[in-house]
Amino acid sequence: MTLRITVVGTGYVGLVTGVCLANSGHDVTCVDIDPVKIDLLRSGRSPIYEPGIEELLRTTLDRGTLRFATPNAGWRDLIGDVTFIAVGTPMSPSGAADLSQVRAAVSALCDAADRPFTLVMKSTVPPGTGATLTGRFLAAARHSIAYVSNPEFLREGKALEDWYHTDRIVIGADDPAAVMVMRALYEDIDSPIVVTDVASAETIKYASNAFLSTKISFINEIANLCDAVGADIDSVARGIGLDARIGPGFLRAGIGYGGSCFPKDTRALDFIATLNGYEFTLLKSVIDVNNRQRLLPVIHLARALPDLHARTVAVLGLAFKPDTDDVRESPAADIVPQLLEEGATVVTYDPVAAPIELPGARRAASVWDALEGASAAVIVTEWDEFIGLDWERVRSVMAAPGIVFDGRNCLDGATIEAAGLTYMAVGRRGAHRAHDRC
Ligand code: UDX
Repeated sequence: MTLRITVVGTGYVGLVTGVCLANSGHDVTCVDIDPVKIDLLRSGRSPIYEPGIEELLRTTLDRGTLRFATPNAGWRDLIGDVTFIAVGTPMSPSGAADLSQVRAAVSALCDAADRPFTLVMKSTVPPGTGATLTGRFLAAARHSIAYVSNPEFLREGKALEDWYHTDRIVIGADDPAAVMVMRALYEDIDSPIVVTDVASAETIKYASNAFLSTKISFINEIANLCDAVGADIDSVARGIGLDARIGPGFLRAGIGYGGSCFPKDTRALDFIATLNGYEFTLLKSVIDVNNRQRLLPVIHLARALPDLHARTVAVLGLAFKPDTDDVRESPAADIVPQLLEEGATVVTYDPVAAPIELPGARRAASVWDALEGASAAVIVTEWDEFIGLDWERVRSVMAAPGIVFDGRNCLDGATIEAAGLTYMAVGRRGAHRAHDRC
């Protein structure tokens, strides 16, 4: 069944949603208020770095099932039978999700609608948002508009894989007809469908990201304990991950999570809990652990190099994880200023990452330029380029003592040490610890 679909917002979520639904044969219009972005997309180029997205964009443009538009000529003719909201819900200083873009889009659509349609919230919005939007905007519209919560579970860098091979599709709706429309929309995706009410669907999204964040902060605390007692986090993670009730996923210790979702969604959930009179103690600890974990490299280097103020440190990796150019909430955004605070000279490098403001640090054009003369290197992002480095050559260009702090536990410590470098990591047996003299 081919549906007329509109996607409002062409960021990481909106563009993937529009391209994939067009690839499934639906008639899709993606709308954005940014004309530069719309022109770029019309020319078949993606404003985001996502493996495979440009090929699919060009295919669906050529097929004629995907088009792009701005709302400059009004919203009425842009509204599809199913209209997704996929605009940003960034974190505000209080931790609350900023819903201004969501409200603006929903209000414009409800004002302009000249016939019934299904409004699908794909953006991550706190539990209770659907009820508020329905009461404030949909109820006042001239035509019947059904509200559906359909949260996304897309990882950056693996978004297309996660779209077509998702573990579940969540549909939150009170109107059975809307549920039928959503089932038709996803009929080509072979995944379990969870049909529930709107508030539960909204909560599933936050609970999912909060639990994944909890796994990460848990394994990072265990890694810190491993460092103290001389255990090995790789063995411990494997040993617990084989328990089917725990599972191996999201047990990679390191300097913690970043990105546009986990930091934002854990803070927003904590805020919503507090707003509703509940003290989410565990979640607050997950957030606190993560905030501290990303500073481990600075703590270890300051202890190992008392004259850190006279040293140069290479920070390798600015993207919050590999296979993306996204630098939002990257650990580097905290590590670099702290190293500068310690008086170190800091040189950064990333093969892909988007520009990021790091006053006082120099951004090198190559990994070798960054490593030249550096007394220490911090692996912040586990890019293949860093994992595959010629460590003998690294030793020849770095200054003594040639510390490599592996913030993602992605390197082989024995290889690093065999090259005459000093290997530090997070909870790995055999790695140098902060108090070891280098
Ligand atoms: C996440 C969720 O996985 C996805 O379902 C949701 O829709 C959006 O948020 P994303 O933020 O793209 O996706 O990245 P993800 O691959 O989940 O990693 C998040 C962060 O956790 C990264 O900074 C990563 O380095 C870190 N991480 C992940 C760990 O530190 N350890 C792990 O074991 C896994």
